[in-house]
Amino acid sequence: MQFTAKVSDISKQRSACAIIAVDAKNRLTSCGEALDKASGGAIAKILKRGDLGAKLASTLLLSLLEGPADRVLLVRSNDGVLSQANFRKMAKASATAVTSLKDACSYLTELEVTDADSAWQAQQLALAAGLATYKFTRCLSSVEGYPLKKFTVHVPDRKQLKAMDAAVEIGTAQAIGSNVARELGNLPGNICTPSYLATQARDLAKKHTKLTTSVLDTKKMQSLGMGAFLSVAKGSEEPPALIAMQYKGGKASDKPVVLVGKGITFDSGGISIKPGMAMDEMKFDMCGAASVFGVMNALLELQPAINVVGLVAAAENMPSGCASKPGDVVTSMSGKTIEILNTDAEGRLVLCDTLTYAAKYKPKAVIDIATLTGACVIALGNHATGLYANQQDLADKLLAAGERTGDRAWQMPLWDEYQSSLDSNFADMQNIGGREAGSVTAACFLSRFAEDYTWAHLDIAGSAWNSGANKGATGRPVPLLMEYLLGK
Ligand code: BES
Ligand code: MN
Ligand code: ZN
Repeated sequence: MQFTAKVSDISKQRSACAIIAVDAKNRLTSCGEALDKASGGAIAKILKRGDLGAKLASTLLLSLLEGPADRVLLVRSNDGVLSQANFRKMAKASATAVTSLKDACSYLTELEVTDADSAWQAQQLALAAGLATYKFTRCLSSVEGYPLKKFTVHVPDRKQLKAMDAAVEIGTAQAIGSNVARELGNLPGNICTPSYLATQARDLAKKHTKLTTSVLDTKKMQSLGMGAFLSVAKGSEEPPALIAMQYKGGKASDKPVVLVGKGITFDSGGISIKPGMAMDEMKFDMCGAASVFGVMNALLELQPAINVVGLVAAAENMPSGCASKPGDVVTSMSGKTIEILNTDAEGRLVLCDTLTYAAKYKPKAVIDIATLTGACVIALGNHATGLYANQQDLADKLLAAGERTGDRAWQMPLWDEYQSSLDSNFADMQNIGGREAGSVTAACFLSRFAEDYTWAHLDIAGSAWNSGANKGATGRPVPLLMEYLLGK
């Protein structure tokens, strides 16, 4: 991706496509006016015919106009100031409309957006364009990716150039990271195994001096007493892996943020096997892990002066003669014992030991990211990631980061009152609560292993992938996490 911000003179700026906004009354921005003039009034004429849809973010691609750009993409805005959500819609629709071209230049930065400066706009445009260029082609025998490689964001005011350029870089890195997460998420379970993820981490460390990787295997996990983690993996032929990636961009004394990703490369449910419907989608049960890989890649793009550790809890959850059974009691690394009442509540079992392990990094904060509960999808649907935290300051920062990028989270309660649903007659706790508040009780379970540090949990069961015709991983919450880590 060659994404840049540029102070361009529209009458001379050559590109395969210029992207310009048209308001509800068919009025153009000043760059739009200039292009219309260069086309001898053709754009105004086409608009008068009513060819551009009235709905916000409708697009119309025009070819063969006189002027500096080979094509012009018209995008419907509204009169006056735009909301951030509407600007995002326009960014996404216009990016999608130009992916089959080799380059494009967006003039949507001429628009005014509520509570957002031109750097914010530049970042959003770069993020949207980067996301639009992704296509899963790895398992197809012939199809190629999209040609769009070059994307320019127009800088209306030279004074803004530096800020907008930095913003484009961040938006691009967020897109690259999201696309890494999408690719790993979309890969089928027979390719993307725990060992495959470990190889990805090792390869990344080979390429970058600021990243080091280590992988804990079954034996090492046994010696650490990770009985909860291992109880999930033992029904599968695929060996588990606890992958640690350390990005060192800051001073050695700077405490790291530790990200912990759920990496169940396929979740059959185990002995508490899932019903067949849409079971294929449980290949996405490693999207938390994928987002950790995405963040690591984005950090390596930007090389910020911070320290971040990415931990990936990778295992496959399968039924077999060796698998854990309902009623089994295991001892976690923390020493707490757990009665496994449902082998399909496996994410919390791999995560709890990884959370205990995370303490060794003396973290500034620990954030786990997990496709943890179907209940979260029922509560929030696809739009919001469920957010839990044991410190409100961290919750507020993550919420704000989500708002800025449009990769939003919604805070859920982590109240003490919910904890008793995990009481067991046979162990310190059981791995499931009742039918009610399933996402909350799962978070309560995790909270018991995160008492020694500032911690947040992101339940991405709804936001990590789309089902239906657009089935595929979204790359969320990479933009949110990057925005938080960069601490803007
Ligand atoms: N990976 C699933 C959660 C999930 C289900 C995410 C559907 C997205 C869509 C998780 O491991 C799981 O199976 N959770 C159970 C927990 C239950 C047994 C307490 C669930 O949500 O049903
Ligand atoms: Mn499960
Ligand atoms: Zn799962």
